[in-house]
Amino acid sequence: MADPPRRTVSELIRHLRGLGLLAPWLAWLLAADILLSLMLPLKFLKPDLAYNLSSRIAYSVWRWIQYTFEKQNGAVITSSGDKLPTGESAIVVSNHVSWSDFYMIQALAIRAGMLGRCRWFAKVQLRMVPFLGWGLWVMGMPLVSRNWLKDKAELDRVFNGITKRRWPTWLISFSEATRFTQKKYLESTEWCSANNKPQPRHLLYPRVKGFVSTVQHLRKSPHVKAVYDLTIAYQRGKQWHVGPSMWETLSCPRLSEPLSLGGKGYKFHVHTRRFELGDLPEDDEGLAKWLEQRWVEKGEWLEEKRKEWAASR
Ligand SMILES: *[C@@H]1O[C@H](CO)[C@@H](O)[C@H](O)[C@H]1NC(C)=O
Repeated sequence: MADPPRRTVSELIRHLRGLGLLAPWLAWLLAADILLSLMLPLKFLKPDLAYNLSSRIAYSVWRWIQYTFEKQNGAVITSSGDKLPTGESAIVVSNHVSWSDFYMIQALAIRAGMLGRCRWFAKVQLRMVPFLGWGLWVMGMPLVSRNWLKDKAELDRVFNGITKRRWPTWLISFSEATRFTQKKYLESTEWCSANNKPQPRHLLYPRVKGFVSTVQHLRKSPHVKAVYDLTIAYQRGKQWHVGPSMWETLSCPRLSEPLSLGGKGYKFHVHTRRFELGDLPEDDEGLAKWLEQRWVEKGEWLEEKRKEWAASR
């Protein structure tokens, strides 16, 4: 153990290091958002071109931050499950544990050649943020309020780009709508027992409306072939289901080295399952049940992973 003053110095160095890594990326993010905002007229005149250009700009921003996480900060992301085909459009659903979930999904998107084509469900309030929010809008991010009636026009706009214009897309949502915490887990358990639903382990019961609406719209589109069901798991040292904070992912070197060697001791894993869209149930109720079943299975998978990691120490 370092004595307190030395620890303070090393903490200071870490923060400075984080700022050094982050500042040039933030400058590029701002430039990218200004470029994207300037493309707003193009979006109406040449929507396909605007989509392609904005995908390239987004790619550069996301690839850079992924490089910082994996290469500069030493995060080792492991994966298992179905291999995802290259260049395939899909509906992507995932559990949500930590800020760093974004990196897990991006790592898969890079391997599948779809990083620039990722579109995330984001909060509608972001549209008010100058440049950043406008950039998201130009890119065709679905900006939603989680009130599905209010969001209908927005979703139609996003779905139209995909179904009518055949834009290649990974449409990604965290189906639990919020990050996993113990408090939320208890709330979810109470809700499930009151509503006679199964409570999945290590997860929150998923919100089904957005998923059902997405599948019902996009299944009409021949190039969207699959649903990817992702399960994200973390461990920090001996602590299960703990991911790093945003600032840690940016500032800490050696994220995946064991604690005993002076690293941060994080394990990052993502498990993939691929389902043909054509094999999903036709009706809304069946789709809701289908998603519920995925979540129950994810919970079982997570419990197996927890045991495996606990045994491997
Ligand atoms: C957009 O990119 C796709 C390939 O991903 C290409 O087929 C299409 O022609 C491009 N459209 C425009 C207008 O650049």
